[in-house]
Amino acid sequence: MAYETILSERRGQQDGVLWITLNRPDRLNALVPQLYAELNQELLAARDDRSVRCIVITGAGRGFCAGADHKAGSGRESDDAALDLEGGRMGLIKNAQAFINLRKVDVPVIASVNGVCVGGGFDLVCLCDMVVGSTAARYQVAYAKRGLYPDMGGFWSIPRAIGWNKAIEMMTTGRFMSAEEAHAAGTRVWGLVGLPRQARRQVEAGVDVIIAQGYDSGGHSGTVGTFTLVPEVVEIAEGSDTLVLAAGGVSNGRHLAGALAMGADGIWTGTIWLATHESETEMFLKQRIIDAKVEDAVQSRAMSGKPIRQLRSNWSDAWKQPGAPEPLQMPLQGMLVDQTLAGIRQARKEDWMTTPAGQAVVGIHEIKPAAEVVYSLVEKAMEQFDRVAGEPVAGD
Ligand SMILES: Cc1cc2nc3c(=O)[nH]c(=O)nc-3n(C[C@H](O)[C@H](O)[C@H](O)COP(=O)(O)O)c2cc1C
Repeated sequence: MAYETILSERRGQQDGVLWITLNRPDRLNALVPQLYAELNQELLAARDDRSVRCIVITGAGRGFCAGADHKAGSGRESDDAALDLEGGRMGLIKNAQAFINLRKVDVPVIASVNGVCVGGGFDLVCLCDMVVGSTAARYQVAYAKRGLYPDMGGFWSIPRAIGWNKAIEMMTTGRFMSAEEAHAAGTRVWGLVGLPRQARRQVEAGVDVIIAQGYDSGGHSGTVGTFTLVPEVVEIAEGSDTLVLAAGGVSNGRHLAGALAMGADGIWTGTIWLATHESETEMFLKQRIIDAKVEDAVQSRAMSGKPIRQLRSNWSDAWKQPGAPEPLQMPLQGMLVDQTLAGIRQARKEDWMTTPAGQAVVGIHEIKPAAEVVYSLVEKAMEQFDRVAGEPVAGD
C-alpha cells in the first residue's frame, strides 16, 4: 500500500514485525487528517493479518511527533471551530479512529520514541503497550497551552502510563518531561554493548540493564569475545544500580554457571531458541542449525552493512568470493539488497536463505520444547556449582 504520510515496513523473523514510521519529518511528523487516516488503514490491515506478530511505531527524522499540525489545518470538518462545533466534534471522532484501532490490535504495540513527543503524539505513545525512549526524547501534554485536555485518548492512557499525579501535573502545566524523568516514571532502559567503553557510557547514563554481548553471538556482533567482555563490564558496573547480563555463545548450563561466576547478574540468549518447537524458524533452517558446525556461524555484512553472525549460506559465501565488492555501510547495504533477499525468500531458494545464528549452534543437537531448554540450562548450572563447591580446595 502506498502511503504519503507514513511508512510501513516488515522486519524481523518471518517478516513478523510491522514497523510504522510517522513520515512528515519536515513538520516533526505532526498529525494531519491524512496521517490519521493512513495510520488507521494500516492498523486495520494489521489486525486482519495473522503474520503480524508485533508493531513498532516510530518517527522519521529527529522527532517522534509534534502533535496536531495547526499550520496544516485542524483536521476538523470545518476549520472554524467557533462557528462549527459539530464539525469539530466529527473531525475529532474521525481522527481518533486510528488511536481507537491501535488499542484493538491483538499483538503488542511498541512506541520507539526517537525525539520530541508532544500532544497527540504523547497520547499515541501512552496508548502503546510498551515504550522504548531515546535519551533525545522529550514529552509534553501540550493541550493545556491551548486550554484543552488530552482529547485523543490521553485522558485515559496517560495516567495509566505514568501514574495519576504526574499525569495531572503534566496535563495542567503543559511542561516538558525529560528522558530522565520518563525513565524515573517507569520507562526501562536497556543497552547492549560489545566494548567496555560503550558500557562505561551506559553506566554513566544510568541505564537499568547492560547486555554485555561477545563476538560469538547471533545477530549483530562485535569483535570482543564474551569471556573477555563480561568481567570487564561487570567491573565497570560495580557500585552502580545497573545490572549486567552476559550474552554471546550461551547454549548450556555451563555457560550460565560461568556467566554468574564472572559476576554477571544473568544471561541473555538468542540462538538457543532457534531449534525449539515454539520457534517460528523454518524447519529446513532448524535442521541446518542442528547439523551446523561452529564455523558455520559466520559474520557477514552482506545483509545490513553491519556484521551479522548467521548461518553460512550461498548469500554470505557469494559476498566473500575473490573479487566480490565490499558490502556498503548500514543502511545502504540493506537498501541495496532487501528486495533481492525478499525475492530469494519468495522463490524459496533455500541454499540462499539464512537466519541470524551464533556460535552457540555448536551446542544444539535436537529440536525440543523451550521449557526443556530452560530446565536443562538450570540443571546443568546447578551441577557445575555443586562440582565447584564439592571439590576440596587445593592445599586443604
Ligand atoms: C534469529 C535472531 C534474530 C535476532 N534479531 C535481532 C534484532 O533484530 N535486533 C537485535 O538487537 N538483536 C537481534 N538478535 C540478537 C539477540 O537478541 C541476542 O542478543 C543474541 O542472539 C545473543 O547471543 P546468542 O545468539 O549467542 O545467544 C537476533 C538473534 C537471533 C538468533
